[in-house]
Amino acid sequence: MNVFIKTYGCQMNERDSEAFAGMLVKAGHTVVWSEEEADVLLFNTCSVREQAERKAIGKIGYMKKLKAKKPDLVIGVMGCMAQRLGDKLFEELPHLDFVLGTGQLHTIVPLIESIREDRRHVANVAESAAVLTGMGSHYAPMTGSWHGQIAITRGCNRFCSYCIVPYVRGREISREIGDVLDEARMLVDQGCREIMLLGQNVAAYGLGGNVNAPAPDHSPFADLLAEMNKIEGLLRIRFTSPYPTYFNAKLIRTIAECEKVCHNIHLPLQSGSDRILKLMNRQYTRASYMEVVNNIRAALPDVTFSTDVIVGFPDETHDDFLMTRDVMNEVGFDNSFIFKYSPRPGAKSSFVEDSVPQEVKEERNQILLGDLKNRVEANLKQLVGSVQEVLVEGESPRNPDRWCGKTGNSRLIHFEPDDGIQAGTLRKVLVKRAGTVSLSGELI
Ligand code: 5AD
Ligand code: SF4
Repeated sequence: MNVFIKTYGCQMNERDSEAFAGMLVKAGHTVVWSEEEADVLLFNTCSVREQAERKAIGKIGYMKKLKAKKPDLVIGVMGCMAQRLGDKLFEELPHLDFVLGTGQLHTIVPLIESIREDRRHVANVAESAAVLTGMGSHYAPMTGSWHGQIAITRGCNRFCSYCIVPYVRGREISREIGDVLDEARMLVDQGCREIMLLGQNVAAYGLGGNVNAPAPDHSPFADLLAEMNKIEGLLRIRFTSPYPTYFNAKLIRTIAECEKVCHNIHLPLQSGSDRILKLMNRQYTRASYMEVVNNIRAALPDVTFSTDVIVGFPDETHDDFLMTRDVMNEVGFDNSFIFKYSPRPGAKSSFVEDSVPQEVKEERNQILLGDLKNRVEANLKQLVGSVQEVLVEGESPRNPDRWCGKTGNSRLIHFEPDDGIQAGTLRKVLVKRAGTVSLSGELI
C-alpha cells in the first residue's frame, strides 16, 4: 500500500511519524509524499493548543472530496488529538476510518491491513507500555541522514495546569538505557552524526516518574549522556525539553565534561511571575529558575538558551507580563517560542475563566517577539570576526549555491561550499556578516 503521513505538532510527533514510516516500510508498504498517490492517509495530530486541533480537523475534513473520488482510500488519525477525542471524531468526520491513540502506535501495521478488508470505524485509545518497551524493535529509524532523533521517555507526570500532555500522552515512562544506546549506535552506523534525545520531560529520564527534584549527585539522564558521549562516530548530542528543576550539579557537570553535548539548552520558562508560575503548577520561582541559568552559564560560558513562554494565562496582569519580559531580557534567550494561552478542556486551568482578552494576548506576544528580534540581531553582530565550528547540514534551503551548518550552541551559518564539502562533518567558518536570524561566513 502507498501511505501518506502528515505530521502536526512537536518533535515527538515527528519522531513517531518516522517510526510509523519505519514500521510500514519494514512490512512492505511504501511511504509517498502526495495525497493523490496514497491508498492510506495518516494524520499524526497535536492537541496542545486549540488552533492545532482546528487545523488538523480542517485538513481531514477536506479529504472527504478525495475519498468520494477514491472510495477505497483509508483515512486514519493518530497522535494527541486522536487520544483526546477518540471515537467522537467520527461524528465530525464520518469519512474517517480509524482513530489510533498515543499508546497504540506499534499496532499501526495490522490495523491498516485489517481495515482494508474489514472496513469499519475503529477507535483504539488504550494506554499501553508496549509502545515504549517494544520501541527498539518496532521503530526502524530513518536511514542515511546526518541527524537522528531518539525518544527516551514518553508521557509526563508534571500536570502543569494549562497542559493537556499528561492526559493525552499518559504517565511518564523511560526506556532502558541499553535500548537507547543500541538505537543510537544503529543510527551512527547508518551515517547519523547528531542525535537529539526527546522526551516531554527529558531530564527526568530514569527517575521512575518521581516529580521531585533529584539529589544533587543523582541524574540517570546525566549517566545516559555520558554513555552516549562515548559512541564513536557520533559528533553531537542535543536534547529537548528539560524541566528546569532537574538541572542539578551532576547534570550540569556532566554536560560540561561531555564534549559532544551541545551548549544550547532549551529551558522552558512559561512565565517570569512567581504568582503565575504557582497557578501554572510549575515547581520553581523566578529566582530558582535564574539560579539554574547562572549555574549552567558558570559551567558553560558559551551556552545559549532558548525557551517556551505563555502569554495571557488566566489572570495574568500587565505587571506579571512585565516580569516575564524582564526575565527573558535578563537571560537573553537566543530563541523563544511564545504561545498565546489556549484553554484545553480537562486541564486544570480550563476550569477558570480565560480572562485575558485575545487582543491583549496578541499585544503581549508582539512585544516579546520584538524583544527577541532585537536581542538576536545584537547577539549575532557580536560574532562577526570570530571563528565558529559548524556541523555541516547541506545546501541552504533558499539558496542552493550556498551551504549551511549550525554551531554547537545552535547558531545557523551560511557559507560558500568547497569541493570536498559533506553533510555531517565538522568545519570551521570565519564569520563575515550577521543577518537578522543567521550569520554568513567563509570556510577556513
Ligand atoms: N496554551 C498555550 N500554550 C501551551 N503550551 C502548552 N499548553 C499550552 C496551552 N494550553 C506551550 C508551553 C509548552 C509548549 C510546548 O506549548 O509553552 O512548553
Ligand atoms: Fe506539559 Fe508541563 Fe509536562 Fe511540559 S512538563 S509536557 S508543559 S505538563
